[in-house]
Amino acid sequence: MRLRTRAGLGAVATGIATTLLTATASAAPAPGAPGVGDPYYPYAGNGGYDVSHYDVRLTYQPATDRLSGTTTILAKATQDLSSFDLDFGLHVNSVLVDNVPAAFHADPDENGELVVTPAEPLAANQPLTVVVDYADTPSKVVIDGYTAWKKTPDGALAVDEPQNSQWWFPANDHPTDKATYDISVEVPDDVAALSNGTLVRKTKQRAGWTRWNWRSTQPEATYLATLEVGAFEVNQSTTPDGKPFITAYDPATGESLDAAKASVERTPEIDDFLATQFGPYPFEARGGVVSTGLNFALEAQTRPVYSSKFFVAGSNTSVIAHENAHQWFGDAVSLGRWSDIWLNEGFASYAEYLWSEHESEGTPAELAQYVYDSHPADDAFWHVLPGDPGAANQFDDAVYDRGALALQALRTAVGDEAFFKILQGWVAGHSGGAARIQQFIALAERISGKPLQDLFTTWLFRPAKPAAGPNGASTF
Ligand code: ARG
Ligand code: ZN
Repeated sequence: MRLRTRAGLGAVATGIATTLLTATASAAPAPGAPGVGDPYYPYAGNGGYDVSHYDVRLTYQPATDRLSGTTTILAKATQDLSSFDLDFGLHVNSVLVDNVPAAFHADPDENGELVVTPAEPLAANQPLTVVVDYADTPSKVVIDGYTAWKKTPDGALAVDEPQNSQWWFPANDHPTDKATYDISVEVPDDVAALSNGTLVRKTKQRAGWTRWNWRSTQPEATYLATLEVGAFEVNQSTTPDGKPFITAYDPATGESLDAAKASVERTPEIDDFLATQFGPYPFEARGGVVSTGLNFALEAQTRPVYSSKFFVAGSNTSVIAHENAHQWFGDAVSLGRWSDIWLNEGFASYAEYLWSEHESEGTPAELAQYVYDSHPADDAFWHVLPGDPGAANQFDDAVYDRGALALQALRTAVGDEAFFKILQGWVAGHSGGAARIQQFIALAERISGKPLQDLFTTWLFRPAKPAAGPNGASTF
């Protein structure tokens, strides 16, 4: 229903009712905000609507880096809207809002805002279908001075954090607006197109091209939606719980290829171990992609992506444990604000300690103590606050390592039983949504029955080495 209808109702009302209706209607349709109000990234996400599903249907030609197609967004307006923004950097051909052509323009500041003005204002709480038709060369598109799209010799990677979606589909790009996805990408026959979730179908509709249809049925943050195109070796199997396990290896990994496989192929075993610590694996599929086209790893939902560099010295199951721990901490439970990054990286780093203990390579207490001892008090390491590191330091070592020490300090304070109850309660309570650090602290206090604000202030919010180590007074 459109606002026009409501104005019509106001017009037929009389007396005091007219006054009331006029007062309501005087909240005139307004532009949706260009961001959700995240202090680290003012243009991340948008106000005024909530997305439930993205249908991304593309064709990609690696030879020219030409990406074209449509994204259909199912959403609901959360206010009366005269216009709204999508976060998107590619060249747009047309936008339909509820099947009616809409006006649109890219914000001239190159901040990745696409402003859409529908022919008629949109009413709050009404469903909304937006179809964006586009074509561009993503590797040439710069937003805020940066290009997240990674062109490789045989394809491309859409893998990055905190921003990744703007280079391949229009979105409400903030982890607080999670949605389900159908991602369908047509590529030349000699390359594969990997993405999240389940490979629903692979079809041929013209000579030389194959379309890969992927589906994610659990709420997923936009930066965790991923696309890898290239001459990957793709392996498919089914885990004992009946879920697809799909892995892909870049042949250019060369002599590290076997070490990569000896690591990534253990993903189901590692997930099963992590499930004993954190609760059931949250998603419908598993996997991993190894590529030479990036220098980091990312916890893409259901299917993390790893730089081949992680495996140059041999197998590395630590990174597998890290990225898969993010399936619980970061993917199932998303960040309320990007400043809460400790909830992702501190926890995934602590999971590496747990896995290490499982492999008899050192206990969390030993590993945390070693990190604590290896950074003297005057080390700049202690200046970054894991609980609010600043956008420039979001992936600083302190967020990962001091962040893991904070969890060991919590464990020391509350004991093993309460500690694992807290971790599992956190996931159970927020899976499918997003949450913030203060909520975690409140939960930890509730479950342990102990005041913990000082402990978290010491470990997350003070620019100094905590006087007592992560294991309290004990020494190793
Ligand atoms: N979340 C990733 C991890 O598990 C880090 C991504 C860092 N981003 C980047 N563009 N380097 O460690
Ligand atoms: Zn991480």
